[in-house]
Amino acid sequence: MTIEIRNSIRFLLNDRQVELATVSPVQTLLDFLRIDRNLRGTKEGCAEGDCGACTVLVGRLFDGRLRYESINACIRFVASLDGCHVVTIEALAQPNGPLHPVQQAMVDTHASQCGFCTPGFVMSLYGLWMENPKPSVQEIEKALQGNLCRCTGYAAIIRAAEAISSIGELGKDPLVAEREKIARQLAALRDGRRVEIGGEQERIVLPGSLDDFAAVLEANPKATIVAGSTDVGLWVTKFMRDIAPVVHLSHLEELRRISVDADGITLAAGVSYTEAYAVLVRHFPQLRELWDRIGGEQVRNMGTVGGNIANGSPIGDTPPALIALAASVTLRKGGKRRALPLESFFIEYGRQDRQPGEFVESVRIPFLAEADRFAVYKVSKRVDEDISSVCAAFRVTLDGEGRVADVTIAFGGMAGTPKRASNVEAALKGSVWSETAVNAAVAAFEQDFTPLSDWRASADYRMLVAKNLLRRFHLETQDTRNVRIDRAVAVAV
Ligand SMILES: Cc1cc2nc3c(=O)[nH]c(=O)nc-3n(C[C@H](O)[C@H](O)[C@H](O)COP(=O)(O)OP(=O)(O)OC[C@H]3O[C@@H](n4cnc5c(N)ncnc54)[C@H](O)[C@@H]3O)c2cc1C
Ligand code: FES
Ligand code: FES
Repeated sequence: MTIEIRNSIRFLLNDRQVELATVSPVQTLLDFLRIDRNLRGTKEGCAEGDCGACTVLVGRLFDGRLRYESINACIRFVASLDGCHVVTIEALAQPNGPLHPVQQAMVDTHASQCGFCTPGFVMSLYGLWMENPKPSVQEIEKALQGNLCRCTGYAAIIRAAEAISSIGELGKDPLVAEREKIARQLAALRDGRRVEIGGEQERIVLPGSLDDFAAVLEANPKATIVAGSTDVGLWVTKFMRDIAPVVHLSHLEELRRISVDADGITLAAGVSYTEAYAVLVRHFPQLRELWDRIGGEQVRNMGTVGGNIANGSPIGDTPPALIALAASVTLRKGGKRRALPLESFFIEYGRQDRQPGEFVESVRIPFLAEADRFAVYKVSKRVDEDISSVCAAFRVTLDGEGRVADVTIAFGGMAGTPKRASNVEAALKGSVWSETAVNAAVAAFEQDFTPLSDWRASADYRMLVAKNLLRRFHLETQDTRNVRIDRAVAVAV
């Protein structure tokens, strides 16, 4: 097979086309905008995806449809933007021209004081307005979870979000009015070729297809895979790590597919949290709150379920839920695939069952059986945009006599990997699903886990939370198989 190669990255930046033949593997979009292009409206607050000061919109085609999403420019690599449209705050109003409706709304409602966070808020609100011109307060709050303001306060900003559609008409917005033209430009940029930039020490590859991705990785087993870069971006901005050679996957449509059949859902590894949301929540409403509390909107637009699994973090939010749902993961090396239960992918802290040159291709989530009761709880210091102290998922199947026929309990934050509470499960199996059985079983958590103390939580707190969450799950599954879903803020008693 002859592979056609291009040696440049091409994308649209506001109203210009950019072509770069030299790009560093660690060059972030934020540095590119501010240093290379002197576009300094996009700010740097934290350089780790937390504050939203660097928010820009990235438009990209998927199945021919152009969608714009807010992202954090501080942890997005320039090389990943091939075939995309980057929209910065500078595109919204010309010098001395009229303000954009989102900007005018911010002015009218006094939603800015020092102004440092304002471009980021404007871009997040612009992204929301394009998808949803009349959002509810809840939808506005969700879109702004990843934007921090330390002086104005959020009430005025929410009023601004509500006012935008009374100030401007979405249909007249340039990104909406010129969508077909932009989509044609982006389609022309995507030639399906493999992109290769840089010499040995600075190599960046964007494979031309999924098969090409598999071949590139097999030939370069030490390469760093970059999906949404919401973890890898921080290796660079916080730890100054050298990540070359780098192989990107976020541009591959084949790795963004979601398929649903009679038995379950298959998520290709590059599906973002945002892309997975609708289908997952339709089939597993119990996942809604967890999903809404992963990062902020920008992180959910970039981050992938595949990345959350592959990084093997003990505090990643999706593994406990997916383990309790009996998910499996498909790994691929070259043309060879193997599937394994997700729980066996995590071997020990920092070590997963992934061979050099192998990658996570997809995750399979079977549907729950009618008799299954399932819930997932995230416990963190802040409700929004925080990493879990403890994350727990429970699934129990009762027989006709109310006894526990099957039970899976999986935790994050309690061990060096996401891990099942096998001793608690064994203590519950065969018992009547009762308070007495649960109170007897919780002692077995001490055999299953020896949690750590860190800045998120003490070992004692984690253990208490684990026990109380099982009690909570039991209480919530008493009257109906539909588990109540509300804010899982655990209180130590
Ligand atoms: C501000 C902020 C908030 C966050 N909040 C949360 C949170 O609430 N809950 C949570 O769980 N996480 C959170 N995270 C962490 C992060 O968003 C997730 O772990 C995310 O799922 C990582 O996915 P990604 O696509 O960005 O991975 P990347 O950063 O691109 O990659 C992560 C790791 O996985 C590897 N990798 C990626 N894809 C593959 C693949 N297909 N095959 C093999 N290896 C692969 C990479 O090489 C790397 O080792 C947060 C991060 C930030 C910056
Ligand atoms: S600078 Fe804070 S999220 Fe990017
Ligand atoms: S206006 Fe000052 S940080 Fe938001």
